[in-house]
Amino acid sequence: MRTNIENKVVLITGASSGIGAVTARYLAARGARVAVAARRTDLLQRVVADILTSGGAARSYALDVTDKANMEAVVAATVGDFGRIDVIVNNAGLMPIRPMIEVNTDEWDAMIDVNIKGTLYGIAAVLPRFTAQGSGHVINISSVAGIKVFAPGGTVYSGTKFAVRAISEGLRQEVGAAIRVTSIEPGAVESELKHSTSGTAKDTVLDFYKLAIPTESVARAIAFAIEQPDDVDINEIVLRPTRQEF
Ligand SMILES: NC(=O)c1ccc[n+]([C@@H]2O[C@H](COP(=O)([O-])OP(=O)(O)OC[C@H]3O[C@@H](n4cnc5c(N)ncnc54)[C@H](OP(=O)(O)O)[C@@H]3O)[C@@H](O)[C@H]2O)c1
Repeated sequence: MRTNIENKVVLITGASSGIGAVTARYLAARGARVAVAARRTDLLQRVVADILTSGGAARSYALDVTDKANMEAVVAATVGDFGRIDVIVNNAGLMPIRPMIEVNTDEWDAMIDVNIKGTLYGIAAVLPRFTAQGSGHVINISSVAGIKVFAPGGTVYSGTKFAVRAISEGLRQEVGAAIRVTSIEPGAVESELKHSTSGTAKDTVLDFYKLAIPTESVARAIAFAIEQPDDVDINEIVLRPTRQEF
């Protein structure tokens, strides 16, 4: 059966591990042509090799989402290589958990630069193209921490994920009928994210993540949003482990 995923060109940021890598494989298996982007190009090449071996279509691009020109160049290269872009998944993210009182402004800067500005740069690079072609889908990865403040420790991370959710909703209201906007809000999912906490909260985070659900749970949610008919806009999906209270 033909789905609304088949043949779509989907660019996924932060696709070298975790949710991004698994989503690339999941969508490619359903006929999407995927552009995978991140800084660790060796890991991206493995994702591409797996997809090509399975008969899918994929290419990798070196991307630091904090670099606006790099983001624009990757979107331009995706369009050059595949002929168009239909979906961007703004997925790259960091979660260094640490109480505010420890005042680690480098971590605050990094989360703002990757989680918020990286998402905005992705939107900036696709929006003129989506507008010109009269179609497109922006999928932003927020979090349950973008619905409820996760404190102490996750205050700045929550701030960035509230921002991603707010930007998604505002974008939806602004873009009109031709462009779809989805915010995905996962709870604990098995990935490398828990290792971005290196400070005093490290053991607490590792302990909390024992209840994490497989990464493919998020890939399924992303696929569900994409596969809807063009006039159906899935705006928010919240998913968490059944055992997760927060
Ligand atoms: N896992 C969870 O429990 C969970 C829950 C809710 C939301 N999320 C969100 O899901 C998204 C994906 O996270 P994950 O769980 O899959 O974690 P992950 O395995 O750590 O993946 C994070 C990805 O982000 C990329 N990245 C980080 N900084 C980047 C930069 N400057 N430029 C480009 N890419 C960058 C990393 O690639 P490189 O290092 O190769 O660049 C990596 O591929 C994040 O936005 C996260 O906040 C995760």
